[in-house]
Amino acid sequence: MCGIVGYVGQRAVQEILVAGLEKLEYRGYDSAGVSVLADGEIASVRAVGNLSKLRAAIDTSVAEADAAPVATITRPATTGIGHTRWATHGRVTESNAHPHFDTSDRVHVVVNGIVENYLVLKERLHDMGADFTSETDAEVIAHLVSHHMARGSLVEAVRAAYAELEGHYAFVAMSADEPDTLVGARKECPLVVGRGDGEQFLASAIDAFHAYTLDVQFVQDGELVVVRPGGVEFMDAEGTPIQREITTLDWSASTAEKGGYETFMLKEIHDQADAVAETVGYRTLRADGVDLGELELDESLLDGIDRVLILAAGTSFHAGLIGRYAIEEWARIPVEMDIASEWRYRNPIVSERELVIGITQSGETADTLAAMRLARERGAKVLACTNVRGSSATRECDGVLYTRAGQEVSVAATKTFVCQVATMYLLALRLGELRGTMGRARRTELVAEVKHLPSRISELLEGLDAPVKAAAERHADSSFFLYLGRHVGRAVALEGALKLKEISYIATDAYAGGEMKHGPIALLDESTPVVCVATDMPILDKMISNIQEVRARGAHVIAIATVGDTRLDDVADEVISIPRTDWMLQALLAVIPLQLFAYYVARKRGLNVDQPRNLAKTVTVE
Ligand code: F6R
Repeated sequence: MCGIVGYVGQRAVQEILVAGLEKLEYRGYDSAGVSVLADGEIASVRAVGNLSKLRAAIDTSVAEADAAPVATITRPATTGIGHTRWATHGRVTESNAHPHFDTSDRVHVVVNGIVENYLVLKERLHDMGADFTSETDAEVIAHLVSHHMARGSLVEAVRAAYAELEGHYAFVAMSADEPDTLVGARKECPLVVGRGDGEQFLASAIDAFHAYTLDVQFVQDGELVVVRPGGVEFMDAEGTPIQREITTLDWSASTAEKGGYETFMLKEIHDQADAVAETVGYRTLRADGVDLGELELDESLLDGIDRVLILAAGTSFHAGLIGRYAIEEWARIPVEMDIASEWRYRNPIVSERELVIGITQSGETADTLAAMRLARERGAKVLACTNVRGSSATRECDGVLYTRAGQEVSVAATKTFVCQVATMYLLALRLGELRGTMGRARRTELVAEVKHLPSRISELLEGLDAPVKAAAERHADSSFFLYLGRHVGRAVALEGALKLKEISYIATDAYAGGEMKHGPIALLDESTPVVCVATDMPILDKMISNIQEVRARGAHVIAIATVGDTRLDDVADEVISIPRTDWMLQALLAVIPLQLFAYYVARKRGLNVDQPRNLAKTVTVE
């Protein structure tokens, strides 16, 4: 996820910007930059790589400026904007890094998100004489604002530009002609103001400035904000002023680093809408399909495959299992699965017409890496699905599909899991298109639903904590939980059970609903909570029969169901509902209450969920 930080005030801005960007590092990035304004001029420094590279570039620029007759970045600038970029449109290069600027270098912008109509705008601006210096969609905003400034102030120009932009984004603009002013605009992507005394901050997340102030004002969707040292004005897209109250956060230093949540795990559960938006956004720009032909993936890798094999460990294996169902359903390619640590030791058979997908969020799990290496040695094409750029997995493969969850601090995988699942949906959709197994109408429908997943996650998370916490606290003393599900619901059940045992140290088991009567049913009595994944799907009736079998043993049924589905009312003791979407996509949503459930059971038992015993975030030893 890209990060934005802006500042106007009295202090030297450079350090505030870079320190703010460091606080956003966990979101992931591949390049960064800052622009600062002083004496009617803007100076900019950008660098590929991590923020130490940006710091080094700033130092070089300062040294050069010291030696030059005209100082650039050394001026005591007190207004500026900064950005960490994760490449979507255009390669990872210095010229593609933000801030972007107009032809006269008078307007600089930092942008998060995606401008969907950038090609049309770019052509028009180009015809009017704009000189583009990057391959990004974001740069059009700088030229567009500059174009509109010919007829008005920065805020009027931003408003005019905003009216022409399509997509989902947040940006902050600064003009050399208007010192001490930043103008921000928000369409779906977050933007928040930090209020100080004679100074103001504007960022994509509070993390960027919480060291300076906890007085915040949230920019709402469809709003613009003008930020000056002495005050802040909010307005809607028509320019009508809006009053926005200041919220004072009661964050301690330790909750501040967790974005106000009591633990990283809870924060990361709540980060999931953003993480999925970041993962699917730029790949779903086309209404009738998904585009994966990105920097690291040559799509010819997907040609001529007659079988897919997914290899992974733990939570990543469960994401793969959902991927299996989606690929088989939508692309009609047979998919095999195995746990990497098993597959690599069974003298496996693979062919050149096989696509092996290694899923590993860290990119460092030894068994998954070894399995990918072996598959390649035996002639298969290997695709890595990972969250970490430059990780070992990216070197043991023929192509990479990145999840863009940002850094996950808690040991329990949550946001990386939903992003892996989202990536599997995207791959399945693309394979379906390439193989002609899905008509355009069905693809269009599914792409629209995938695009809506982030808003459905937000909808789900709103108000979910209290009921899930209450349910978790009711059952936190149980010594055993059984999880059941069928089809994709089974993968969700497996993941729910793993999460609970991993962080609460309670024994759990997860079974396919239809398998329960073949043994595990013996475990059930009145004291057993049974978590049943019963979202709306073609075989929900079968799952309901399994739930009846559970009830017949007197066990307590906690069902995860689709909102409005009354079929569970008579058979479940407790129902937690998720929003309705395509049944295959509901698997991604259904896991979220189970993550929270595991979380609150563990918290009730007084456990450290961020760092459970015996676990490490990445497994590099065999
Ligand atoms: C569970 C969890 C683990 C990992 C597994 C694989 O919350 O985090 O089960 O999923 O160790 O890790 P990666 O995906 O890094 O290969």
